[in-house]
Amino acid sequence: MTQDELKALVAREALQHVVPGEWVGVGTGSTVNHFIDALAGMKAQIAGAVSSSVASTQRLRAHGIAVREANEVERLPVYIDGADEIDGRGCMIKGGGAALTREKIVADLAARFVCIADASKRVDVLGRFPLPVEVIDLAVPQLQRRFAALGGRAMLRAGVVTDNGHPLLDVHGLQINDPLAMEVEVNQWPGVVTVGLFARHRASLCLLGTAQGVQTVRY
Ligand code: 5RP
Repeated sequence: MTQDELKALVAREALQHVVPGEWVGVGTGSTVNHFIDALAGMKAQIAGAVSSSVASTQRLRAHGIAVREANEVERLPVYIDGADEIDGRGCMIKGGGAALTREKIVADLAARFVCIADASKRVDVLGRFPLPVEVIDLAVPQLQRRFAALGGRAMLRAGVVTDNGHPLLDVHGLQINDPLAMEVEVNQWPGVVTVGLFARHRASLCLLGTAQGVQTVRY
């Protein structure tokens, strides 16, 4: 199976985790696009979706799925999203699609985070995928120096601003042995909007697409 077929496979499997009658939190990215397309088939059974990006909102609405923003709901039973990397404890790097801040906001409303990913995303140690960080532009050089002190090379993502109007740094060369400690540390640096480490909001469950089928991993 191709990587895209594996993404579609886990996206369809994720429908089993959607709670009928409720709002479902929806992430962003190519795996989630498959999920949104599959969700359209059961739109009459759900209240609608809480979206994490302009792109996902447009796709959901194109399917006729009702959409709410994060500030319109208090809690969600489940949030479904992809990842750029996921480790053996369910900690993730996210933000390859530049939606990390809203993704974390919606994930924070949810009782469970169901990660949908093809097997290439599973790693032992996070950091081979450059760590995305949404930042305030004034702080860019200062933050680049801070990441350099940790052994990382923080590069501005060219031509990209987030849905919130901010630039992104992609930090190369990190080996993240303690994702929670790094998330807590980087979150405190002035000028950081959101770091793309999801350790405080790690996955409760991962549906991993492999050549043998969907592997369900609980954390
Ligand atoms: C977007 C994300 C995505 O979940 C992540 O980039 C994975 O994307 P894809 O499903 O396209 O591989 O964090 O900000």
